[in-house]
Amino acid sequence: EDNRLNLIQSRIRDFPDFPQKGIIFRDICPILKDPAALSAVTSLFEEHVRAQFQQVDLVVGLDARGFLFGPLLAQRLGVGFVLVRKKGKLPGATVSVAYNLEYGKAEAEIQEDAVAPGQKVILIDDLLATGGTLYAACSLMNQQRAEVLGCLVVVELKELNGADKIKPHPVYSLLKY
Ligand code: PRP
Ligand code: HPA
Repeated sequence: EDNRLNLIQSRIRDFPDFPQKGIIFRDICPILKDPAALSAVTSLFEEHVRAQFQQVDLVVGLDARGFLFGPLLAQRLGVGFVLVRKKGKLPGATVSVAYNLEYGKAEAEIQEDAVAPGQKVILIDDLLATGGTLYAACSLMNQQRAEVLGCLVVVELKELNGADKIKPHPVYSLLKY
């Protein structure tokens, strides 16, 4: 077994009934506070991507916690990083899509020139719950004719079947709850 996974797991805190009753919130902040744990996340993602995909053009991170892990991975891979933001935050020409998530709804947006047709991209976020957020990001990539190689998350909440929603795009998660 990989010690790195045990370290990462030890750096996730559970908060019952946040942000609403019935949700057990998995808080990844302690990972960021521990450089060894953050490095473990980055190296596991890097090893997976290098083993699975021949060529990657961009890492695409989801607002807001995908921004914490995405640029680290992009640097390791030697590729650029692109932001999928909540609507209204990005200047210039944008494309957006509405979606539902585990505890609400939102709209995801990218700059129109963020990805070029045919570019091979990896999507990254902290956590997969219902899959609404990653599905929306995949839709934006498809609309822009980018090729989604796969999605990376630190935590996957299995009972919500988010991976089914994102099919056929593969999801790689470090920890499953
Ligand atoms: C959380 C989480 C994922 C998403 C997962 O973000 O960081 O992005 O929800 O849920 P889903 O799989 O059901 O879509 P949130 O929208 O709370 O935003 P934040 O990162 O800005 O806090
Ligand atoms: N933790 C963090 N983010 C989330 C969760 C959670 O349990 N569910 C949906 N987004």
